[in-house]
Amino acid sequence: MELYPPKPPRDRRHLISVADLDRDDVERILQTAEGFESVMHRDLKKVPTLRGRTVMTVFFEPSTRTSSSFELAAKRLSADVVSLKASGSSVDKGESLRDTVQTLSAYDPDVIVIRHSSVGAAARVTEATDAHVVNAGDGCHQHPTQCLLDLYTMRAERGSLDSLHVAIVGDVAHSRVARSNIQGLRLMGAKVTLVGPPTLIPRDAASLGVEVRHDIGAIAAADVVYVLRMQKERMAAGAAYVPSLREYTALWGVTSARVRPGQLVMHPGPMNRGIEIAADVADGPNSRVADQVRAGLVVRMAVLYDLLAGPRPGAKAALRPVAVAAEEVA
Ligand code: NCD
Repeated sequence: MELYPPKPPRDRRHLISVADLDRDDVERILQTAEGFESVMHRDLKKVPTLRGRTVMTVFFEPSTRTSSSFELAAKRLSADVVSLKASGSSVDKGESLRDTVQTLSAYDPDVIVIRHSSVGAAARVTEATDAHVVNAGDGCHQHPTQCLLDLYTMRAERGSLDSLHVAIVGDVAHSRVARSNIQGLRLMGAKVTLVGPPTLIPRDAASLGVEVRHDIGAIAAADVVYVLRMQKERMAAGAAYVPSLREYTALWGVTSARVRPGQLVMHPGPMNRGIEIAADVADGPNSRVADQVRAGLVVRMAVLYDLLAGPRPGAKAALRPVAVAAEEVA
């Protein structure tokens, strides 16, 4: 007997970028996530859907929300979960991304969820493993599951994303969340306005099909005010993007005086309270920050389900009806 018989090639789909998805994919994932809501309200919040499957989460950057929600999502689906943080692992000893992924791949995981500070890291991982790969954030490039959970939250509130007006405020230039959300919102028919100082708005913004405004007053016209964190860790040392944080707050901070009744305020977290968002807005009636975190769980369950139990590549015409997915988890 061969000790390591060659494995049959796996049909693999990955979620590296929102560009991997079309409108039907987004609809299907959001509907599957809705189907999982009922599981969250049970005493036993677990379904056997991914029993016997293995999900590995590998975080080379700090994370609270994303890592905990992927881990819990996989556990709620009964998958076996291995969670690796770079600090405390062999990465601390200088092991390369490729070696780490190859080592973990020897356990034959079904999904690897990866966060890394380099643009393109998740795409590179697809070359070093047989697993489905989910990008949980690569530098300032993409964060597709954050986009999906934001779309889910907005749709739950407003019913439809078509013609919804979303103002994305702040440090767009360094934000993978902004890049993914611009793509996702445009795909689903929403209108996007970027608001912030010229130094923090990417120069190619106009080519992304969005409106750009530099005055904070522009948020008044939006249905949703999506606030971004000032990403100090991604700003080149010594480069002055804003004269000072105090001045940034005075000119672009989202305060209760700048938010009108009925507007939704969202933030991917972690928040710098008192800098990009005032504490009373973060905790106030317009805030949907806690809903975003809750949505993260069902949306990531839906993403894992979709990759492992959903349609095969090229089989879009034969999509399993969402009702089947919902029944399976009921
Ligand atoms: C975001 C990230 O890591 O890109 N956070 C998150 O995933 N919830 C946004 C940020 O760090 O500002």
